[in-house]
Amino acid sequence: MILPVVAYGSPILRKVCDDITAAFPELNKLIADMWETLYNSNGVGLAAPQINKPIRLFVVDTVQIVEDFNEEDIRKYPNEKPLKQVFINARKIEDTGNMWSYNEGCLSIPKVREDIQRPNTVRLKYLDENFLAHEGTFHGITARVIQHEYDHIEGKLFIDYLSILKRRLIKKKLDDISNGKVKTDYRMLFPK
Ligand code: NI
Repeated sequence: MILPVVAYGSPILRKVCDDITAAFPELNKLIADMWETLYNSNGVGLAAPQINKPIRLFVVDTVQIVEDFNEEDIRKYPNEKPLKQVFINARKIEDTGNMWSYNEGCLSIPKVREDIQRPNTVRLKYLDENFLAHEGTFHGITARVIQHEYDHIEGKLFIDYLSILKRRLIKKKLDDISNGKVKTDYRMLFPK
């Protein structure tokens, strides 16, 4: 089932999310719905608060990015392999490596894209959908998407990294999103 995506301005996007247990009601169905919602909106990552659940769960599938690589991208990101993964109760161990810039967007903040600086590598502990424990190190675009989704379960958004000036320049767009004045080809849930 495709779920509506929570829009910028909704308080749930600012919550530090809670861990879950394997007994979380209808978890498999929830994860299946998150995949369906992600693909329906052509996204590469989706976090539970974006579908109105304040829990530490996010899904990532970067195949879309890697498949759309042009010649220059292939040269720029030679080691990039697509990752499809469910992350449950993730805890970041560290961000390392050089800061680099990438043009980010977010399904909760449609029509806003900005260059954001983040470290190249992320290391984190997480459980997969079978509640098996993993520790993983990810680089490049894969790390980027994970860092973005991880921020969601910590109540953070990519626009938080923008300068005050840049924030001022997109304020009208953000206000419009909060007020439901944005058109998307996927369903959204706007703040009351
Ligand atoms: Ni996002």
